Amino acid sequence: MRTCNRCLCFTLVVTLIIVVVLSYLLNSIKDSTVPSNILIRQTECNNYSRPIIFIGGMPRSGTTLMRAILDSHPLVRCGEETRVVPRILSMRSAWKKQTVEWNRLIAGGISENILDSAVRAFVYEILVRHGGPDADILCDKDPFVLKHAVYVTTIFPNSKFLLLIRDGRAVIHSVMTRKVTITGFSLTDYKQNLKSWNQGIDVMVKECTKIGDSNCLFVYYEQLVLHPRVTIEKILKFLNIPWVDSVLHHDELIDKKISLSKTEHSSDQVIKPINLEALTRWVGHVPDNVKNEIDTLAPMLKQLGYDTKSDNPSYGTADSLVIENTNNIKRNISYWNERMKQYDRKMSNTTSIASVKTLTVL
Ligand SMILES: *[C@@H]1O[C@H](CO)[C@@H](O)[C@H](O)[C@H]1NC(C)=O
Ligand SMILES: *[C@@H]1O[C@H](CO)[C@@H](O)[C@H](O)[C@H]1NC(C)=O
Ligand SMILES: *[C@@H]1O[C@H](CO)[C@@H](O)[C@H](O)[C@H]1NC(C)=O
Repeated sequence: MRTCNRCLCFTLVVTLIIVVVLSYLLNSIKDSTVPSNILIRQTECNNYSRPIIFIGGMPRSGTTLMRAILDSHPLVRCGEETRVVPRILSMRSAWKKQTVEWNRLIAGGISENILDSAVRAFVYEILVRHGGPDADILCDKDPFVLKHAVYVTTIFPNSKFLLLIRDGRAVIHSVMTRKVTITGFSLTDYKQNLKSWNQGIDVMVKECTKIGDSNCLFVYYEQLVLHPRVTIEKILKFLNIPWVDSVLHHDELIDKKISLSKTEHSSDQVIKPINLEALTRWVGHVPDNVKNEIDTLAPMLKQLGYDTKSDNPSYGTADSLVIENTNNIKRNISYWNERMKQYDRKMSNTTSIASVKTLTVL
């Protein structure tokens, strides 16, 4: 009995020593690799109930303009596309969909709960720490995040979504003329592009509808550029953010509060004040063999209210502010061409088409 007690005592002491030494070692590792201010900042700031705005939609639908407008509000910070946020969401979705993989994860002790908090921490960390100082209201512009709106509202209960909607014919014209590589889109096949646009926007509209109109707002690109004041008023009201006049003049804050990425396709366009240049550029470019099939290829066009009978539909009459902006740009075209060159898409020469394609897979 006595020897056994002594034995127990000895084991306890040894365990204690090991614990003390280990925790000392762990602490010193932590201290030497992570600056303490970052650790403090993480624990203070990880508040997943903060309001977060997600701007999405099909690419080439005005998402960059929308984020430049919100970035011109003093309470909001969006910043450049993160690109990794939609990817982690799409990976999580794939794990969940593949039953075999999902069962493996569960069997390995990785519960849905653990995955959710890991994904949430990843997304939050990226949003808080990329591009510019933190703001009261965080905002993310990554077009394809809208495909995961239902899930995102479960991990960020105070998130709100803006779904940018634009005439699919204009989207496709922009993809093809500006040579934007997006999975599912071709640089030459108009029909395939209409189908891909339809499929993408269909998923997004469904997600947006599911979370309801207090969490997700449809923003028509055409209405945003034709009637900026009333459209932005409606958006800010939906987001519970007070009106400030600076949102009508985002161009004045480019490179000040708004930082633009030189690798994003729209940067050279959103440096200009809100204007009508891109609204009807597509008109006259729909191939004849597509025109009479348009409602079968892309039924969402009609469903979203676009006039598919006309080759030159009317979206409405522009406000005087945007007409003035557009005329001023025309009058001052050499100035703008010069400025656009500075924001022209600069891709490293070593980025081959193949690797660009891989990067856009979502
Ligand atoms: C987290 O954010 C919400 C919404 O902004 C706020 O009401 C709450 O007080 C914050 N919680 C902490 C611990 O800061
Ligand atoms: C063109 O626009 C720039 C910036 O707004 C301005 O400084 C310049 O005076 C304008 N030039 C003309 C000819 O309007
Ligand atoms: C890429 O190539 C072009 C023309 O070949 C050259 O002018 C440019 O400096 C190169 N850019 C980089 C980043 O190497």
